This record gives sequence, C-alpha cells and structure tokens, in this order.
Amino acid sequence: MFRTGTSPDATEFAGKRAIVTGGSRGIGAAIVQRLLDGGATVVTTARNATDETPKAATFIRGDIRTLAGVQAFTAAALDELGGVDIVVNNAAAARAHIGGISSIPDEEWLDALDLNYLSAVRVNNALLPALREAGPGGVIVNISSGAALTPAPPLAHYGAAKAALNAYSKALASELAPAGIRVTTIIPGNVLTPGADAIRQDFADAMDVPLAATTAGVPLGRPGDPRDIAEAVAYLASDRAQWVTGVSLTVDGGELPVV
Ligand SMILES: NC(=O)c1ccc[n+]([C@@H]2O[C@H](COP(=O)([O-])OP(=O)(O)OC[C@H]3O[C@@H](n4cnc5c(N)ncnc54)[C@H](OP(=O)(O)O)[C@@H]3O)[C@@H](O)[C@H]2O)c1
Repeated sequence: MFRTGTSPDATEFAGKRAIVTGGSRGIGAAIVQRLLDGGATVVTTARNATDETPKAATFIRGDIRTLAGVQAFTAAALDELGGVDIVVNNAAAARAHIGGISSIPDEEWLDALDLNYLSAVRVNNALLPALREAGPGGVIVNISSGAALTPAPPLAHYGAAKAALNAYSKALASELAPAGIRVTTIIPGNVLTPGADAIRQDFADAMDVPLAATTAGVPLGRPGDPRDIAEAVAYLASDRAQWVTGVSLTVDGGELPVV
C-alpha cells in the first residue's frame, strides 16, 4: 500500500501555473491533485471528466489526438491561466493486440503516434512561447512508459510511440536548457489505473491468469499507486530538481530489467 506519512509542502508550487493532460483519472488525476496540494493553479483536459477528476482544477473538455484539438485546448488553458510554468504531458491510450504486431491495423499505428507521442510535441510547441515568456524555471515532464524500454509485441505501436517520446524529450531538453527550461521524462512501471488495468486484463485473459498475476513480482512488493508517479512529477517539477534535465526517471518498484 502507498504510505501517506508525510504531507506535501503546501507552498512549494505557490504562484505556479500548471497544465496537465489526461488529468481526469488515474495517474493524471494524481498528478493534478499533487500539484494542487503544493499550491499550484492547475488546468487539465480529457475527453470526459470522472468522479476522480480533482474539483479544484479547471477541467477543459477536449480531444488532444489531433493538432486542432491540441491548439483548442492549449489556447483555452492559456486564457484561463494567463501563462504557464509547468507542463505535464500525461494523456495516452492503447489497446493490446494479442495477435501480435502484424494484427495492429495501420490506422491504430497512426492513432498511437498521434496520441502517445505527437500530442506531447504539439502541446509543447503550442506552450513554448508562454514558457519562454515566463523566464528561466519552466518545466516540462513527459510521461512515457516501461513499454518504451521492454516493448511487448501486442503493444508495439504504443511502445514505439513512447520510445519516440523519450528521444524527442532528450533533444528538447538540450534545446531548452540555455533558456533555463527543464525537460524530463518519467517511465512508470505497472501502476493500478483504469486504463492500464483494462490493457492488463487483455493480457490476463490471453494467458488465462487472474488480473493480479500481471502485476505480481514487483521487487518492492506491490504494483504502483498513481501517487507514486505524482510524487516523482512533483520532485521533477520543483526547484529541488533545478539541476536535473534530459533524464528519464524510472518509477517502477524495481521491476524493469534494464539499466
Ligand atoms: N498505469 C500504468 O501502469 C502505466 C504504465 C506505464 C506508463 N503509463 C503512462 O501513464 C500515463 C497515464 O496512464 P493511466 O494508466 O493513468 O491511463 P488512464 O487511466 O487510461 O488515463 C488516461 C488519461 O488520458 C486521457 N485521454 C486519453 N485519450 C485522450 C485524448 N484523445 N484526448 C485527451 N485526453 C485523453 C483519459 O481521459 P479520456 O479517456 O476521457 O479522454 C485519461 O484522463 C500515460 O501516459 C501512460 O502511457 C501508465
């Protein structure tokens, strides 16, 4: 179980304006809540709000799978906030193709790239003028996936999109460092969320095992809680990480067999 012994510093993000994609549920909702708890003003988006969507954030309904959708959302978010200091690209989705790579239709490859990779590129492009205007101290955190490092054939399209996100993030970090804007990536392992549980259920059905078997064997003894990822975002978005850029931080309970 996630231990909640310490309270966040409620002033760490005071005066900061944050934009988080996919904050309606799961990891995104936890990130929004963690930034709010630190004193930030937060705008988020998804196609639909849920009971999990933090009420203290401004929710802008939208679909960021297209350039037009990103432009509509980012314009509305900047109108609401008057600028931006922290950007978290978290929205993503995928469907496992148990039949393997050749069973992934062309259209789904394009969808996977649009939502899981290009939406972050487009959001960042749209927000960069405002980030630059805010001056040194801006932060972009892109949420990637262990699937970029240990890609499974049924999720090859999603893994490839996230691997592209990693490479792009590193390049963006180099480009923006002289402006004092940091860019980092988080690589979550198996975190219990509605979206990921649905994908893991497909794997469990294919293997004829219970859902819990797909998240067993994490060295630190449990699957991830969305707040595990939110804490990593809070660190990377804060001045505590002021000398940290271009990194990919793996947050996985020790599970991914990579160095
Ligand atoms: N959970 C894990 O085990 C795990 C592991 C590795 C990486 N990750 C990464 O962590 C991030 C969050 O994952 P999660 O597990 O929290 O997923 P989730 O429960 O499915 O939540 C995804 C969020 O993205 C939004 N979204 C999806 N499509 C969208 C679209 N076209 N436009 C706008 N918003 C959209 C969803 O809302 P709507 O559907 O209403 O639009 C929701 O708010 C993702 O980047 C994922 O790749 C998760």
